[in-house]
Amino acid sequence: MLEMRGITKTFDAVVALKDASLELKSGEIMALLGANGSGKSTLVKTLSGLVNPDGGTVLYDGKPVHIRSAADSGRLSISTAYQDLSLVPAMSVIDNIVLGMEPKGKFGLIDRKKARDYALSCLERLKISCAPDALVQSLMPSTQSMIEIAKAVASRPRLLILDESTASLHSDEVDTLFAVLAELRAEGIGIITVTHRMGEIYRICDRCTVLRGGETVASGPVGEMDIDTVVYYMTGKKPDTSVGARARAGIHSADERPVLETRGLSLPRKLKSVDFHAYAGEIIGIGGLDGQGQQDFLRVILGDQKHDSGGIVYQGKKTKFRQPADAIREGMGFISGDRNKESIFPVRTVAENIYAGAAARGILFSYIKPAEVNRFARNAVEKYGIIAGGMRYPASSLSGGNQQKLVLGRWIALAPDLLLLDDPTKGVDIATRHEIHRILKECAAAGMCVLYGSSDNEELLKISDRIYVFYEGAVSAELQGEDRVEEKLVAAMLGLTGEHLKGGENR
Ligand SMILES: Nc1ncnc2c1ncn2[C@@H]1O[C@H](COP(=O)(O)OP(=O)(O)OP(=O)(O)O)[C@@H](O)[C@H]1O
Ligand SMILES: [Mg+2]
Repeated sequence: MLEMRGITKTFDAVVALKDASLELKSGEIMALLGANGSGKSTLVKTLSGLVNPDGGTVLYDGKPVHIRSAADSGRLSISTAYQDLSLVPAMSVIDNIVLGMEPKGKFGLIDRKKARDYALSCLERLKISCAPDALVQSLMPSTQSMIEIAKAVASRPRLLILDESTASLHSDEVDTLFAVLAELRAEGIGIITVTHRMGEIYRICDRCTVLRGGETVASGPVGEMDIDTVVYYMTGKKPDTSVGARARAGIHSADERPVLETRGLSLPRKLKSVDFHAYAGEIIGIGGLDGQGQQDFLRVILGDQKHDSGGIVYQGKKTKFRQPADAIREGMGFISGDRNKESIFPVRTVAENIYAGAAARGILFSYIKPAEVNRFARNAVEKYGIIAGGMRYPASSLSGGNQQKLVLGRWIALAPDLLLLDDPTKGVDIATRHEIHRILKECAAAGMCVLYGSSDNEELLKISDRIYVFYEGAVSAELQGEDRVEEKLVAAMLGLTGEHLKGGENR
């Protein structure tokens, strides 16, 4: 149904697409893969009309088409769920879903009842449980992603494009989505999905296409491409599978005090008596389905939210930070995957963004020599392979994954004593993700204490020495050693912990 040939696109000096091609049959799910900045979003945006390519041809149903606007794309029944969501934060869920396709009643007025029924059926199909009149900005990131998908599916497309739609989804949401995708495939709809979660492509995709540096370098049935082969095409290198430094969970001398300890930590309706401890040199995973309190837990430690009972002991001292800036001054670092809201300063330059962590420790931009900012930033850019047009470009011009690497580079460079991470590798490609894990393990081996929240179970099991699983605001399990396996993790995420598990000295 779709054939793209020799697509090219440059933004000023940046070549985003050099020679990209792609073929899709109806009733097929295609994984579009590639490292951060390889041109995936740009390529799919040429189909949704947001980017006009400089050259190349696109055949749709065998006929050449020129998609110059979102309206052109809509006329071809192409619908996209975007990586940087297209929802209007200050509008309700219903209004967002029907936006642009309001059912009209008599005299061309919007039929509110029809609109509501329609939106509710969309929510139901994707099993999204949220108040339909709630403002989108009040919802969890993963719920927002699900609504973005619901909106795209709702328009009954013939070609559905999902750009990293699963990046912040939890396993239950991914299951629901995949069931819907399988239905759509059976109806003959063509689907292109961009993802960095490699496990997913083998679950649902039929074929994959790999981009490297804006060029299509491989394409074929997923059954014929194992992960190593895909990574090889993405990077041009053999994958580095070394695990890095050794885990040290549970090994501490009797007189060693934890870097962080909480006892009976509670927050109304969000956290229920959380007992927790983490030592220097440990990487502690924080798991759970969306909104089970794990995000609140990290924010309470950071002083972004106030607990009402229980206590936090940090570096041996009872603490209650008034604001994150105080925690940062005391040696904490914080990285969130929700970079749009929490981490990136879009209009500042790449260099300034990287330096912002140092600035947060009390040094202001205006007092620092630009050369200093640039030196610090260039280091990080090299270490994490951030692909940017230049240090002076605004951060908003980077691809999604590169923006995320920028935030990571910023904090790791500061070597905090306690690093809090909330889904930090969201949208980061697999090769860089390995690299980040390796760097974090090195940091831990050098004595940093790392709290790693992730929506991706595979990643959680891979990186953590111990995992605390949250369910309904309480810790439902603490997994370590042989208990660190997928089945136990999933069971604990669903609150199914018959035996009140390990580490129960405090309960
Ligand atoms: N509007 C823009 N202005 C300048 N450069 C851009 C713009 N959009 C994309 N680029 C550049 O084009 C390249 C490809 O970006 P694109 O967003 O397509 O990557 P991607 O493969 O989707 O990466 P990711 O996995 O990180 O989302 C990157 O180097 C990016 O910095
Ligand atoms: Mg992208």
